[in-house]
Amino acid sequence: MHIIPLAGACGAELLGINLATNLTDALVAEIRAALNRHGVVFFRDQSFDDETHKAIARRFGPLFIHPNFRGTGSADPEIVWVRREPHDTSVVGEQWHADTTMCAAPPMGALLHGIDVPATGGDTLFAHQAAAYDALSPGMQRMLANLRAWHTDRMVAGPQSGMNAKRSTKVRDGADWVETRSLHPVVRTHPETGRKMLFVNASYTVGFEDMTEAESKPLLDFLMAHSYRPEFTCRFRWAPGSLAFWDNRATLHLAVNDTGPQRRLMRRVQISGDTPV
Ligand code: SIN
Repeated sequence: MHIIPLAGACGAELLGINLATNLTDALVAEIRAALNRHGVVFFRDQSFDDETHKAIARRFGPLFIHPNFRGTGSADPEIVWVRREPHDTSVVGEQWHADTTMCAAPPMGALLHGIDVPATGGDTLFAHQAAAYDALSPGMQRMLANLRAWHTDRMVAGPQSGMNAKRSTKVRDGADWVETRSLHPVVRTHPETGRKMLFVNASYTVGFEDMTEAESKPLLDFLMAHSYRPEFTCRFRWAPGSLAFWDNRATLHLAVNDTGPQRRLMRRVQISGDTPV
């Protein structure tokens, strides 16, 4: 395996691997180490079906079933099809976010496989949140140490979000949908590396514990703008068969909605995670 870092703080391409056929225990350990080092790792020219995709993900942990995509477009609840059709005006993950952080135990990571990839556009950006935390002043780090923030899915699912009118990947928005909210530390410690990481994001985080959303907004706005400064980021250009595997605890990501009239189809499998501490 050859590791080619994509940028200073975030992302690396892992070359010389066929995930479908040569995923030995030793290789799984090497990929995990690279993920811990770079926050997101990328593979090229991977070709496999749904079941193999899930089997690869299971080598890194039990699969996570996304509560808001259940029954909305994939017969298999363990798979989310991230689909953009030419008429769509919005895409999944258009804001800087970690996935599904309204859950008490958000996913540890996700494997996104490029199936139908546009000739231009549709890149994905990533930002390493340990690098973002490290760059804060000691005073700001001390202030954040004991803060917790509310994460809710009301902006990305349910009837108020308006998501389904704008895009082909549908979320649950019926009368039976209920908001999920969780309180998470603003700075979490990575369970494998021990690094401290910022843990707020624009899709889910709405305010600090025991404060109003208006009171929380100035500091939240600062933290979010800080979290994706260019020096913490990398940008991945997809080709058919490319696969991104991100650590959802350590990174934020954003899907760039710039493919114009082109179609984009990705298959995503998520891995279960633990409660942030
Ligand atoms: C996501 O947020 O999981 C989608 C990322 C992408 O489609 O590039």
